[in-house]
Amino acid sequence: MSIPPYQPAAFPYARPRRLRTAPWVRRLVAETTLTPSDLIWPIVVHDGDEDKVAVSSMPDMFRLSRKEAVNAAREARDLGIPMIALFPNISNTPKDNTGSGATDPDGLIPETIRAIKDAVPEIGIMTDVALDCYTDHGHDGVMEGNKILNDASIERLEEQAFIHAHAGADAVAPSDMMDGRIQAIRNALEANGYSDTMIISYAAKFASAFYGPYRDAVGSSKSLTGDKKTYQMDFANTEEALREVAIDISEGADAVIVKPGLAYLDIVQRVTSTFGIPTFAYQVSGEYAMMQAAIQNGWLDGDRVILESLHAFKRAGASGIISYFAPTAARQMQG
Ligand code: PBG
Repeated sequence: MSIPPYQPAAFPYARPRRLRTAPWVRRLVAETTLTPSDLIWPIVVHDGDEDKVAVSSMPDMFRLSRKEAVNAAREARDLGIPMIALFPNISNTPKDNTGSGATDPDGLIPETIRAIKDAVPEIGIMTDVALDCYTDHGHDGVMEGNKILNDASIERLEEQAFIHAHAGADAVAPSDMMDGRIQAIRNALEANGYSDTMIISYAAKFASAFYGPYRDAVGSSKSLTGDKKTYQMDFANTEEALREVAIDISEGADAVIVKPGLAYLDIVQRVTSTFGIPTFAYQVSGEYAMMQAAIQNGWLDGDRVILESLHAFKRAGASGIISYFAPTAARQMQG
């Protein structure tokens, strides 16, 4: 059997691979970059005696004593990470319905802020404004029956934000999702002489199962009654996230947070393209736990997958990323 004479195909003119031939050209045409300046490192401080306590659901993450938190701040500064985010684990302070511990001027967080500002003044400090770490029911606000009271919670949150600002926090980050709290906190800060204290609002925070390991880390998981669906957002929604961000900007937020991260990149993209306000994505505890589990089993290559995941946020338009991987990632960037 004879076949017709072979005709060579035309060569393609468009060869996108030309721009991928060597590291230097890949670098030259990269559309986004990731540097340590893009990172915020969340740190959990505890009021116990041990310097470092492992968190079983978050391998290589530790609850730190105040002294170790200062060392962590120093490490962050030396790595070029601009800001750390502080979260408390209070096990030696009684918890109650209104989270009294949250407004103690000599509490764990104010003391830690002072210690860090004293030793490492170059680092930015952001604090979590919410009551969950201080309440006996584990909710972010004040509870009556099975209801989370909006306005009564705000009164507590304003005072908590003021206490943090007074201790030297550069930014307060309300993560409670009560209505109107940004305006109330802005007013409280202005009225008390803290007009330079930033508000980085958890504007689009979803009721998420990805927060599980964090609740272990801060010790609020055992106490949590019910869920947070009456104040955190339904994961079915996008337009609502945009309304939440619009409200928080109008109330005085300087920057906003989308949380969780990787499963919510569409929200990051919509928020940044709609508002152009500094927007941080939070790669939360559950995302960290998933990746660490696979890395530690040798199923994912930690030297590659962490930076790849962080880069996705930059592509989606985020100004930066809050991530437990921050120091590891910053070290990897240094090569
Ligand atoms: C609540 C708060 C949560 C996180 C940060 N602040 C958890 C929650 O809403 O229950 C989660 C952080 C993480 O999962 O890494 N104030």
